[in-house]
Parts: sequence; C-alpha cells; structure tokens
Amino acid sequence: MTSVKAFLKQATERFEAAGIESAEVDAELLVCFLTELNRGELAAKLAVADFELNAEVAERLEEFAIRREAREPLQHLTGEAHFRNITIKVGKGVFVPRPETEWVTGLAVDAVKLVATAEPIVFDLCAGSGAIGLAIASEVANARVIGIEKSPDAFAYTSANYELLAPNRGSAILGDLSEAPHSFDGLVDVVISNPPYIPDEMIPVYPEVALHDPGLALYGGNDGLDVVRVVSQTAKRLLHQGGTLVIEHADMQGEAVRHLLLNDGWRQVRTHQDFNGRDRAATAVR
Ligand SMILES: C[S@@+](CC[C@H](N)C(=O)[O-])C[C@H]1O[C@@H](n2cnc3c(N)ncnc32)[C@H](O)[C@@H]1O
Repeated sequence: MTSVKAFLKQATERFEAAGIESAEVDAELLVCFLTELNRGELAAKLAVADFELNAEVAERLEEFAIRREAREPLQHLTGEAHFRNITIKVGKGVFVPRPETEWVTGLAVDAVKLVATAEPIVFDLCAGSGAIGLAIASEVANARVIGIEKSPDAFAYTSANYELLAPNRGSAILGDLSEAPHSFDGLVDVVISNPPYIPDEMIPVYPEVALHDPGLALYGGNDGLDVVRVVSQTAKRLLHQGGTLVIEHADMQGEAVRHLLLNDGWRQVRTHQDFNGRDRAATAVR
C-alpha cells in the first residue's frame, strides 16, 4: 500500500531532481487524475487524513511518475488539456495548448462577441488540438468555427475534439492553411491563428517542448515568420471588410509582425502585451 502523502513527497522530490519547475503541482495532478478528485477535493481530503491508494492505482501512478520524470508532458500522460473552460484530448503528435494562448483566444472571443450577424463565422488556422476554435464555440453560443490543420497526426485530435465538443457548430479540415475553402472568401468575421513561430535555430530548452511537441507546430523558418506570412495572406482572402485577425507570436516579434501586417495592407494593426508585459499577439482589421 502507498499513502498519498508519501507518494506526493517522493514524486515531488523526483520531479524536482529532474528539473521540473512545477514538480509539486504535477505530482498532485497525477494523483487527482487517477483518483478522480480535483485539487480542492484532494487538499480537503488530505487536510482531514492521509489515505491509501489501492495497488492498481499505485502501480499506474508509479508508471506515470517514471514517464513524467523523463520529461514527458503531463498532458500526454493524462490524455487531456484544460483550455479556458473546455477540456480537450491531446497526446503524441499534437501540440499541447498553452496558457498564453488562452489569453490570445480571449482577444478573438471579444471580437466575435461584437459581430452583429446571427451566426458569426470564425476560422482557426493551424488548429492543432482545436483548442482555440472550440473554446470560442463554447463561449459564443451562435458562432460557427472552422479549424484547419496540416499534420495528419495532429488532425486526428482536431477532428476528434470537434466531433466531441462542437458536433453541429464547427468543422475540422485537414490541409495547408493556404487551402482554406474559397467558398468562404470574404465571408468570415474573425480569423485567429497560433502558428508555428519559433525561428529554426532556436531550439526550445524544455524537453517537454523540444522532444514532444511536433516540429511542424514549433518552427517557422529563419525568422520564425514563414507561416505568419501565409496566415496574413489567407486571412485577407477569407475576411470581409471590417473582419478581425488575431495572431499569436513570440515576444521578440511584435515589431516584425506589425510591419508585415501593415505591408500587407491591414488596418488598425495593434500589438498586445500579455500579463508579463511581453508583446505576444497582434490584431488587425481587414
Ligand atoms: C503552435 S501549434 C498551435 C496549435 C493550436 N492552435 C494551439 O494553439 O494549441 C501550430 C499548429 O499549426 C500546424 N501547422 C503548421 N503549418 C501549417 C500549415 N501550413 N497549415 C496548417 N496547419 C499548419 C501544426 O501542425 C500545429 O498543429
């Protein structure tokens, strides 16, 4: 038998030794996942008394702890990621959505809420798990969302998540973003994209990212902006006059993205700072 407090203590120490910054939280989240408790419930239960895990749960926890210690992303172990107010399926082959993208998605949610038509149309270019478009669909009841994803491995998750979370409100398309259907040209209200934007030679330091996020999700050419350029061109084709574009980018790319968008003829080009004051998103109007 293993007590929860004993597991949490030794897993936290092992994760810290492996260089995981969120060691204690990750240990708790693994226990929560396998005991089907949320963090509040776990804390409340432990405040009363320590409790034992049955042999099967203890064995699975140990398997997960070994994989996490080897820097496999926590979300690959649990198979799910929480994003704004939705939970989506993730795993090998698909980019795990990030907290900063939750904030960028908020910029699009605000723009969609201002659309006066009965059924605003939203495109999520480079959809990955589908997190962005599906969060928008869950927060703006009448929005129709279309996600485009190029990687067949990632698209398995895009389509499964669309099927699960927005069966009648959205569709997922496998293909290059530049192939967004021409039938939507000039009809779209909001385009959002979190494209790959890391310059090719800037290999991320975290093993969870460098080893487990797909390269197609990360790297965007010499300056990181190869896919951003295609997003700008494709969004210009899709959006009607007055439609809004939202793009996530790296903190050192604010000026370059503004320049690129102004050169492409966008209006009201703005850089947005995240909670740490870093340039992390651009918006523009068609
Ligand atoms: C940074 S990830 C973002 C995924 C998701 N939108 C999110 O925020 O979690 C970028 C995604 O773009 C996809 N991608 C890269 N190039 C693409 C292209 N030319 N057309 C469509 N999708 C592309 C990658 O496979 C990856 O899933």
